[in-house]
Amino acid sequence: MTITKEQVLQALGNVEEPDLKKDLVTLNMIQDIRIDGNNVSFSVVLTTPACPLKAMIENACRNAILHFVSKEAVININMTSQVTTQKNTGVPGVKNIIAVASGKGGVGKSTVAANLALGLAKSGAKVGLIDADIYGPSVPIMFGLEGARPMASQVEGKTRIEPIEKYGIKLLSIGFFTDPNQPVPWRGPMVSTAVKQLFNDADWGDLDYLVIDLPPGTGDIHITVTQSFPVTGAVIVTTPQNVALADAKKGIGMFMMPAINVPILGVVENMSYFTPAELPENKYYIFGKGGGHKLAEILEVPFLGEIPLIKGISDSGDAGKPTVLEDNGPMTAAFVEMAERVAQQVAISNAKALSAENIVNN
Ligand SMILES: Nc1ncnc2c1ncn2[C@@H]1O[C@H](COP(=O)(O)OP(=O)(O)OP(=O)(O)O)[C@@H](O)[C@H]1O
Ligand SMILES: [Mg+2]
Repeated sequence: MTITKEQVLQALGNVEEPDLKKDLVTLNMIQDIRIDGNNVSFSVVLTTPACPLKAMIENACRNAILHFVSKEAVININMTSQVTTQKNTGVPGVKNIIAVASGKGGVGKSTVAANLALGLAKSGAKVGLIDADIYGPSVPIMFGLEGARPMASQVEGKTRIEPIEKYGIKLLSIGFFTDPNQPVPWRGPMVSTAVKQLFNDADWGDLDYLVIDLPPGTGDIHITVTQSFPVTGAVIVTTPQNVALADAKKGIGMFMMPAINVPILGVVENMSYFTPAELPENKYYIFGKGGGHKLAEILEVPFLGEIPLIKGISDSGDAGKPTVLEDNGPMTAAFVEMAERVAQQVAISNAKALSAENIVNN
């Protein structure tokens, strides 16, 4: 019996995308089906290269062919991706803007933002990072770029800032334009103009994700970013302590205000537990356990992961080479998993927005 394309499509119509709750064929995720005797090959186009369900979906496809088409089939699946988008982000070529925020300072926003950007890039996504913290920029130090000055180029008569490329991502920091030894004497409107320039006047090219490291709390910069650009979603960073949770709630409240209305992608708990280098199996919950989970529950948003408190995370930030770039270890894994969960939430949020739009349009 010869295998047909229709049989393959019918079989794969039984495989559900667990997040989007529809089958892969309906979602148009199956492409390039080729059949040659018992050899069946096709591509599965995921919504992000950082898909945490990649292996599971691949397995389900394989089983569906073996079960519904032929036990003799020799299956070759090409797992690829096309990052989704839902609306014009206001920055041409940029598909998704992810803001990293917190109510309180010093909880690890910049550390999470840098490792999130690099974690997404590690999976193959095209990523940019904007450090919008005018009063305490972190990107120059975390990426070993102190004193770096971006080049300007002329594109169609306009001056464009060229983001600096390092470790495979594109970077701009307000710190590339200020003197680290001088306080920044800017007032509200100047701050707002400077931040908008990082988005509008830079040559970002095509990006799947543009991550924004915001300053602590809520202020002019948050309002500028969220009102000038349709941010896909915000990642809220907290530490396990109750104080930080109270502040995180404040930070989130701002995104939920009707005038701002930025979806919350979820909560990341940083400094969740301490693990000594010599006892990597031991976890000490020195600030209490489960605070981040609790906040996520109260807000009815996903929990995106626990990041351990490890001296190496701080050392690598200071040394200009964020942790996630290192070889596989527990810290790297924690950041990679977090990045995958963020990408997953972006894909879900995009799918929801698109189906809502279809309902409105029909
Ligand atoms: N999981 C961690 N383990 C160890 N050190 C950490 C961890 N996360 C952050 N740090 C360190 O804590 C300090 C504060 O982190 P970071 O700068 O990322 O916080 P932030 O929220 O961006 O601060 P700010 O509010 O000033 O912008 C840094 O020295 C950083 O290296
Ligand atoms: Mg910071």
